[in-house]
Amino acid sequence: MEIIHEPSVIQRRCESIRCGGATIGLVPTMGCLHEGHLSLMRRARVENDVLVVSIFVNPTQFGQGEDFDSYPRDLQGDLVRLEGVGADVVFAPRAESIYPKRYGTFVEVAEITEWLCGASRPGHFRGVATVVAKLFNLMKPHRAYFGQKDYQQTVVVRRLVADLNFDLTIAVLPTVREPDGLAMSSRNARLTPDERRMAAVLYRSLRHSEERIKGGERQATIILDEMRAMIEAQPLAQIDYVALCDSETLKAVDRIEGPTLAAVAVKFGATRLIDNILIPTP
Ligand code: PAJ
Repeated sequence: MEIIHEPSVIQRRCESIRCGGATIGLVPTMGCLHEGHLSLMRRARVENDVLVVSIFVNPTQFGQGEDFDSYPRDLQGDLVRLEGVGADVVFAPRAESIYPKRYGTFVEVAEITEWLCGASRPGHFRGVATVVAKLFNLMKPHRAYFGQKDYQQTVVVRRLVADLNFDLTIAVLPTVREPDGLAMSSRNARLTPDERRMAAVLYRSLRHSEERIKGGERQATIILDEMRAMIEAQPLAQIDYVALCDSETLKAVDRIEGPTLAAVAVKFGATRLIDNILIPTP
């Protein structure tokens, strides 16, 4: 496994892989790898000749007062996990080489970034779209893999790829969960034992919305009130948003008619967790 820190080096390395006729699968991550990340890599491993993984805690996608400094980092542990899934090339740049002095170009994806996590984290998706565009230009992968766990991010990345004519395929894979349903996340490590126990309510509330829709309820406000009540019953949970949206436009719906995204963002102390499920047309 090769470890590369410099953008110019990864660019030349990937160029020579492509020229040799091999396909490149890219899994972009911020590290502190868990089974959710590894599931993307295992898929990318079988679908491509060369598996490239990036590990970069991207400063531009964190707002003022967010957890950039305290975001969990574990490069040594990650390298062991990457050997385990058979990664070929790891790109772990320093922030100054991705955003050197006088850096001034950012990618803004309109509309779909205005609500849900975009509303609670202004500038977040601008940072995500910018770094993902840079990674695509550096590695020029044939396929890039993302998790449904960050559903809005997948919609933003697909929009970016279509709008800027990136020549690659985006694959979105299901959310990997703990036995109690909690979506795996690097941030779970920061929950206290009480918060960790209560955090299972996110997935329970999502499943509740699915059951209510399957059972015939069509009024979004009724379902949302029930989800909020379930979450608020956990004393350490502070709701950021609870939403039922059109799965394509991500706009909130009043009546459930087509495929719906149920999405939640909840804070436990300083730790903000998100989760979602897709509910097919009832
Ligand atoms: P990060 O949070 O490290 O996630 C990297 C990828 O793993 C994302 O596509 C995310 O959706 C996926 N992932 C995380 N938890 C998952 C789970 N439980 N099941 C399945 N997939 C999961 O998302 C980012 O990093 C960054 O925003 C990034 C795209 C790397 C840009 O900086």
